[in-house]
Amino acid sequence: MPESFGKVMKKNIVLLPGDGIGPEVTRAAAAMLRECAHEFHHQFDFREMPVGGAAIDATGTPLPKETLDACNKADAVFLGAVGGPKWDAMPVGKRPESGLLALRQGMGLYVNVRPVKLLEPLRGISPLKPEVLRELDLEIIRELAGGIYFGERGHGIEHGKERAWDTESYSTAEIERIASFAYGRAEGRSRRLCSVDKANVLSSSQLWRKTVAGMNHLYPTIKLEHMYVDNAAMQLILRPSQFDVILTSNMFGDILSDAAAALVGSIGLIPSASFGTGAPLFEPIHGSAPTLAGKDAANPVGSILSATMMLRDAFGLNLEADWVEQSVVRVLAGGFRTPDIGGAGSKVVPASGFMEMLREEMQRTLEHAERYGWGV
Ligand code: NAD
Ligand code: IPM
Ligand code: MN
Repeated sequence: MPESFGKVMKKNIVLLPGDGIGPEVTRAAAAMLRECAHEFHHQFDFREMPVGGAAIDATGTPLPKETLDACNKADAVFLGAVGGPKWDAMPVGKRPESGLLALRQGMGLYVNVRPVKLLEPLRGISPLKPEVLRELDLEIIRELAGGIYFGERGHGIEHGKERAWDTESYSTAEIERIASFAYGRAEGRSRRLCSVDKANVLSSSQLWRKTVAGMNHLYPTIKLEHMYVDNAAMQLILRPSQFDVILTSNMFGDILSDAAAALVGSIGLIPSASFGTGAPLFEPIHGSAPTLAGKDAANPVGSILSATMMLRDAFGLNLEADWVEQSVVRVLAGGFRTPDIGGAGSKVVPASGFMEMLREEMQRTLEHAERYGWGV
């Protein structure tokens, strides 16, 4: 064991592998968590539960009660991904994705943090020129429990033709709780907060803007800016380094985070953490990538970084998280890449090969630290 840093932890972690590449990337994250537990003498007890399409097949519902109960009793939850062509014909409410929404709701999660940070060895594979990309390091704070995802919806017949609708709706209280989180986050970073909405068209966005602006006096050192979502999508590509903390609604955050992910090389690289009234949930932002499933090609980095967010943000295990993250960067710097990020001169390896390299790198770092101390 490395010299003792902080206290030994005992934690219950629920794993929700889900569908497609979900189980593959969950295995990678769990392997890293196990490695940390082993080397730092923590006790992590894992419990695997069904969610999404896998749960529909096994139990007839995408979020079995036992799964939600286990998550609500856990210290932290990890989710891979849900969904796939097998369940695509199912109606909203019954499909795998509805299970994920019900999970977020059932766990009281209203904050979703999506950090998008350039990993230096991957600078060359960004679709942006280096002078535009600069030091991309931003955080999207996505509202997770409201908006059009959870508003009134319906489907009926009007004048003999079908009509379907979903409603974007936010209350002041819902906006305030996510905005306080975002202001707090901005205080810990560069003190710039950009709130993204569509207040020129939507009344829910007008309330959003008024509420966020009205809270600025509580955080006087924060420089608040408002931006319409269409412009924000463009600005992310034109000049991404202007952003630090982005605060936005459930749907806008979903869309902007995939776009931002592309700027740093792959959606397979980006982690997320969700917080609320109970246990936190950690999940990569990508989906079940059905065409990659079973091919040993899914990039595990987004999933592994979600696990390091768990170590740091749920358990306060900063050293363990740094150990894994620095090792990931070193493996990438060595040129080893999964196919989605394989650029010129890189050594493309299967996901399992990448994991092998990562384990070896972690051992090397550990031996170095044991000999010379951490931080040397
Ligand atoms: P997706 O994120 O699964 O895939 C989008 C693209 O990114 C594809 O080209 C895919 O191959 C690639 N990709 C995704 N993850 C990758 C990884 N780890 N490594 C390498 N490449 C990766 O999104 P989609 O295709 O729009 O959706 C597929 C299914 O996933 C749908 O059923 C959708 O509803 C579901 N979905 C689930 C989640 C979730 O569970 N959190 C998120 C998004 C989409
Ligand atoms: C995500 C996904 C989910 C979302 C879907 C699968 C419900 O796209 O986590 O980004 O829209 O929140
Ligand atoms: Mn998404």
